[in-house]
Amino acid sequence: MDSITLIRPDDWHIHLRDNLALETTVPAAARCFDRGIVMPNLTPPVTTVSRASAYRERILAHTPYGSNWQPLMVLYLTDNTSPKEIHAAAESGFIYGCKYYPAGATTNSDSGVTDLTKMDAVFEAMQSVGMVLQMHGEVTSDDVDIFDREAVFIERHLRPLVAKFPDLKIVLEHITTQQGAEFVLNASDNIGATITPQHLLYNRNHMLVGGIRPHLFCLPILKRDVHQQALIKAAVSGNQKIFLGTDSAPHTQDAKESSCGCAGCFSHHAAIEMYAEVFDQAGAMDKLEAFASTNGCDFYGLPRNNSTILLRREPWKIQAAVPYEDTQLIPLGAGTTLNWMLVE
Ligand code: DOR
Ligand code: ZN
Repeated sequence: MDSITLIRPDDWHIHLRDNLALETTVPAAARCFDRGIVMPNLTPPVTTVSRASAYRERILAHTPYGSNWQPLMVLYLTDNTSPKEIHAAAESGFIYGCKYYPAGATTNSDSGVTDLTKMDAVFEAMQSVGMVLQMHGEVTSDDVDIFDREAVFIERHLRPLVAKFPDLKIVLEHITTQQGAEFVLNASDNIGATITPQHLLYNRNHMLVGGIRPHLFCLPILKRDVHQQALIKAAVSGNQKIFLGTDSAPHTQDAKESSCGCAGCFSHHAAIEMYAEVFDQAGAMDKLEAFASTNGCDFYGLPRNNSTILLRREPWKIQAAVPYEDTQLIPLGAGTTLNWMLVE
């Protein structure tokens, strides 16, 4: 197979940041996706419908001319989120989910939820209006090793939550473990998961053997090879609950190449091409469209896109750097060669 046409894909998990960053991130998202679920971890976070509306306007001002790309907004849950705000979000017509960050888990998550069990009224409201809960599924307690935080979260928090709210639509975001994949695949149809390109292409050896590679550091952190293989298996299975979410999360080169570097990989320069690489290597190009273009919107109850993209087998080298804010960032896979090119 030397070329493939796909229904235009969507990205069900992106970080666009704000202000100057939007000059890079919005055109990069619109390059091949038609919609993006926009993460709300700004400072201050996007906690209300009115903040989401203002942020959406700032994003739309950067949409390239002629593009159909749409930001799908998300509210950031805090200990103070009210059921009333959930109902207002559902009625807004532009909010498609609420994001749960355990307080302190990752970039700009200080205002996140401190105790999941105190959020019952909010989850009740979300369940009743069919609002999707996007979960950063990691515990933050000091007693849990960073490589175990997703697996422990599933047993400690997610299983009880699903038992309590069986009809709540939940996306376990950026799964990184065999346990994450198995949990979602064995759960009911209202539980889905996104997978990033970095967790499919790399494992922790790529990040740490022969020197530390800060541009592969993200959260949840890359795990061992057996988990990478489980994620590839889940992604190429075609299962309707598993879909594309890049978690493209830009940080400047300086912020990552530091004695305390930020977590996050920017991947929008080559996202669909990287996923194509994984599916091709697994002999599963016929499953790429389900993963990239149909499973996600079906899960969210949104229509499928009516345009297409064309990918061609043709080697090209990923750029070494991307202009970002008033400096630059190092994109995922910088300097490496990909075998699939986005033609149109
Ligand atoms: O690596 C990550 N970066 N993981 C997250 O959960 C947040 C993201 C960011 O915003 O930089
Ligand atoms: Zn994210």
